[in-house]
Amino acid sequence: MNGIKIGNKTSRLPIIQGGMGVGVSMHSLAGAVAKEGGIGIISTADIGYQESDFLSEPRKANLRAIGQELSRARKIAPDGILGFNIMVALSDYNEIVKECVRQKADLIISGAGLPIDLPQYVIGTDTKIAPIVSSARAFKLLSKRWIKKYNYVPDMIVIEGPKAGGHLGYKKEELDSPECSLEHTTMEIVALVRQLEESTKKRIPVIAAGGIFDGNDIAHFLNLGADGVQLASRFVATEECDASQLYKMSYINATESDIAIIDSPVGMPGRAIRNAFINRMQKTKEPITRCYNCIKTCHVKDAPYCITKALIDAVRGDLNNGLFFCGSNAGRIHEITTVPKLMASLMSEAENTLSKAV
Ligand SMILES: Cc1cc2nc3c(=O)[nH]c(=O)nc-3n(C[C@H](O)[C@H](O)[C@H](O)COP(=O)(O)O)c2cc1C
Repeated sequence: MNGIKIGNKTSRLPIIQGGMGVGVSMHSLAGAVAKEGGIGIISTADIGYQESDFLSEPRKANLRAIGQELSRARKIAPDGILGFNIMVALSDYNEIVKECVRQKADLIISGAGLPIDLPQYVIGTDTKIAPIVSSARAFKLLSKRWIKKYNYVPDMIVIEGPKAGGHLGYKKEELDSPECSLEHTTMEIVALVRQLEESTKKRIPVIAAGGIFDGNDIAHFLNLGADGVQLASRFVATEECDASQLYKMSYINATESDIAIIDSPVGMPGRAIRNAFINRMQKTKEPITRCYNCIKTCHVKDAPYCITKALIDAVRGDLNNGLFFCGSNAGRIHEITTVPKLMASLMSEAENTLSKAV
């Protein structure tokens, strides 16, 4: 099985660990995944939440934490591929991108909005960029724009389907529609990307994400033409994951019926584990006592709750006040394992399935 080529590095395995904010994928998880031959992604959403000045100067704390987290991850995986996930909806998006490039990240994966001007920050640097798209339409729009305005062909494409965790690039009513399924969109985008590769003579790995649970699923998406997969929820239940033990236990204790679709102040639906917080939010608004200016699209006056507070409460393990994002298959996770064990089992299942198909 081939790895994923990012600039002049190639991962040993076709697995990316998706960025998980706030604080769920930081240096420990990303470093462990990169060390095992996958691609490790650190989330930049409120990345500085543990800094002592985060409450008074969140922007400064976040920018400082970028270099710290990357260098800690590089210590774990000196030769691995390490990057950042940056949500377009972040208020300080441009500054965060610039800092990730300045710190020499191998890769930036950017979604929760279309990163239409991302190339301007990386042209002439070694940092590679990949948009997250949820439809062939978004892929066409974005690649056209990058090529026309910046003469820049995407270095990789991440397709995030409706079964993913966190914010979802779909309307609620689209989540179960067959045309929006990850399978359907992957096949459509793979066909378009292969044409683009032909005309631009540039190799563009296509990565499928959202609800991919085991090695059989990985083999399935590779068979559909994807070059790799991005998994997030499975990596939460690992010793190396940066979230608190209570966060990990909330995954272990969740069953399929505990997984809910919620409204986020970001303006997109999100998937999370139903708990006391979600039950309260669905009845009434939570007064916002402090604004961190984290999201461009959040209107503090009308927002149902503060997403920064809810996600920080979650990563620290506050089961009553936290928002615990998860993918649609989180209810199938029953034990905490380690990154090397998880990746070895995913790969052996995938290889098994692929070899049977030959
Ligand atoms: C706890 C959690 C937090 C997430 N946070 C982000 C984020 O900050 N930015 C982002 O683009 N995607 C985020 N995601 C989406 C993942 O990166 C990933 O693409 C998706 O969850 C893959 O589906 P899976 O969890 O079923 O494997 C998050 C997912 C989870 C489970």
